[in-house]
Amino acid sequence: MLFELTEEQKAVRDAARDFAQNVLKPGVIDRDENQTFPTEEIKQLGELGFMGMMVSPEYGGGGMDTVSYVLAMEEISKIDASASVCMSVNNSLVCWGIEKFGNEEQKQKHLVPLAKGEKIGAFCLSEPEAGSDATSQSTTAIDMGDHYLLNGTKNWITNGGTASVYLVIAQTDVEKGHKGINCLIVEKGMDGFIVGAKENKLGIRSSDTHTLLFNDVKVPKENRIGEDGFGFKFAMKTLEGGRIGIASQALGIASGSIALALAYSKERKAFGKPINQHQAIAFKLADMATEIEASRLLCLKAAWLKDQKLPFGKFSAMAKLFASETAMKTAVEAVQVHGGYGFVKEYHVERLMRDAKITQIYEGTSEVQRIVISRAVLEE
Ligand code: CAA
Repeated sequence: MLFELTEEQKAVRDAARDFAQNVLKPGVIDRDENQTFPTEEIKQLGELGFMGMMVSPEYGGGGMDTVSYVLAMEEISKIDASASVCMSVNNSLVCWGIEKFGNEEQKQKHLVPLAKGEKIGAFCLSEPEAGSDATSQSTTAIDMGDHYLLNGTKNWITNGGTASVYLVIAQTDVEKGHKGINCLIVEKGMDGFIVGAKENKLGIRSSDTHTLLFNDVKVPKENRIGEDGFGFKFAMKTLEGGRIGIASQALGIASGSIALALAYSKERKAFGKPINQHQAIAFKLADMATEIEASRLLCLKAAWLKDQKLPFGKFSAMAKLFASETAMKTAVEAVQVHGGYGFVKEYHVERLMRDAKITQIYEGTSEVQRIVISRAVLEE
């Protein structure tokens, strides 16, 4: 068993680290404070090939592996989890979903600009009353012959305002339950499609989260992904990979938090010595480091399995569960290590603590991950 990264993987990690430190860090506090989407920064991420990392070069992507994606997500998320959620949704939900299940025309029209970062995508599954219980879709896509008539409301949509390509999950045939659900590609500007209110959030404040409204939107039949009724399986398969992205985001938030805690604990003196020389702090750092390493191994294992084309759904759920719980715990402890300074925006760590919380909620709550893992374990 080899734990060594390849030279290419190290180069991707270093490029992401440089970008995060030099481009994302300077404005991150202001963007968080003012809820400003990192438009220019995301454009640059696209130019670096980070918005379609795993897409084949044939479709304008970087042709990189999932392990590289984990490494890049960790580095970006250490500094700016708002930028990294935009990157994660575009890469592992929207680009992957279209590349894996879309037809050639859909790939040429939508995947190519998404993979190059010229357009941003959104994945629209959640509804006011369909979060964890994702089969309970109220949004309807009625079959009208040559098009679907789309009606309903989607909630908590990442990239909701900035996207131009939306993968919308909707119920076509209620009688068929989850087998009557479809995924439609909706484009910004279609008649009846309204981008609603932007959410004022606790964390990842500079990411762009909206409610979306669909009022009699005519979506051409050719915009359906896969066979009729494939939409729910499409969503589940896509989320399996998406969870690697969010697990890596959580890993980055945790490793960003410990980096800040370590640096502060070396400088800050109390009772005559640096605070990291007191076991009260040193033991916290030991626990953080151990849990972060375990999170990293789970993320990399899920990514490696995906790259080998082996089943990885149990491991992506484990990575998402463990890394997000670790992110929350680590960030809270990192604030504690900072004492009063941890409560002040200039020290960055309070933002990481606020950002950590969402990783336990989106792309399936911790409880959803436990459902996925327990079902897999019980089947073994
Ligand atoms: N791959 C393929 N098919 C799958 C699958 C998978 N991973 N998981 C389930 N399915 C199939 C099942 O086989 C079943 O099909 P059959 O009847 O043909 O066998 C069908 O889907 C229904 O599955 P379940 O009976 O298991 O469904 P369930 O109602 O019990 O729900 C659940 C399972 C795991 C809780 C699921 O609903 C779920 O994952 N919920 C969470 C949804 C979620 O993650 N939302 C996040 C929104 S996106 C987001 O957050 C993006 C962002 O902005 C950052």
